[in-house]
Amino acid sequence: MIVLDAIEISTLPKQQRTNLINGLSGFKSALLIGTTNVAGQQNLAIFSNVVHIGANPPLMGIIHRPVSVEKHTYENIKSTGCFTVNHVPRKLYKNAHQTSARYDRATSEFEACGFTPEIKGSLPAPYVTESFIQVGLTLEEEIKITSNDTLLLVGSIKEIYLAPGIIDEEGFIELAKANTILVQGLETYYTANFVDRLPYAKP
Ligand SMILES: Cc1cc2nc3c(=O)[nH]c(=O)nc-3n(C[C@H](O)[C@H](O)[C@H](O)COP(=O)(O)O)c2cc1C
Repeated sequence: MIVLDAIEISTLPKQQRTNLINGLSGFKSALLIGTTNVAGQQNLAIFSNVVHIGANPPLMGIIHRPVSVEKHTYENIKSTGCFTVNHVPRKLYKNAHQTSARYDRATSEFEACGFTPEIKGSLPAPYVTESFIQVGLTLEEEIKITSNDTLLLVGSIKEIYLAPGIIDEEGFIELAKANTILVQGLETYYTANFVDRLPYAKP
């Protein structure tokens, strides 16, 4: 085994350390967060640190970087109280990656990166038409992680839109069938293969 202790980790060149640490928590879904500001200017950005918080009540969270520079997704979620989470179809992973660029506030990444915004349901935040799995949420809680000033934005799931044929009668979404994109760190993209589905484990 290659062994790295805390001192060796902290003295690695910055980019090498970032690449290493970013990969350690494994594959993530690459998701597009759709928002709007109060004036109706839409925004779209890729996020991979989106976590399941609980099913009852239905909650999902986003780990957001420190807001030390202008951050449109964060500003919009705070001002409108809602956002959408949209899975990325395989053929659009490059477009999705491009949404991470620092576009100015007046530029919609929907337009700049080739996605179609869709307003529907009860929330003003835009969905991504091209996405097979779309979720609409309202902001419930903002928790500051004081270790590094990141934020956990907890959202309450209000609406779910699924393409036909990707959910079974028991409610399982077949993510591999939906060809949803995964990412390691900030730049390495994958798709997933189904392996097995197991019964609830008992001692
Ligand atoms: C694959 C990938 C995953 C990302 N995941 C996150 C994330 O989980 N949290 C975060 O704060 N930024 C993440 N980013 C960075 C944002 O996409 C980036 O800061 C973007 O410019 C934010 O746009 P905004 O200012 O329109 O909100 C990620 C970038 C990439 C390429």
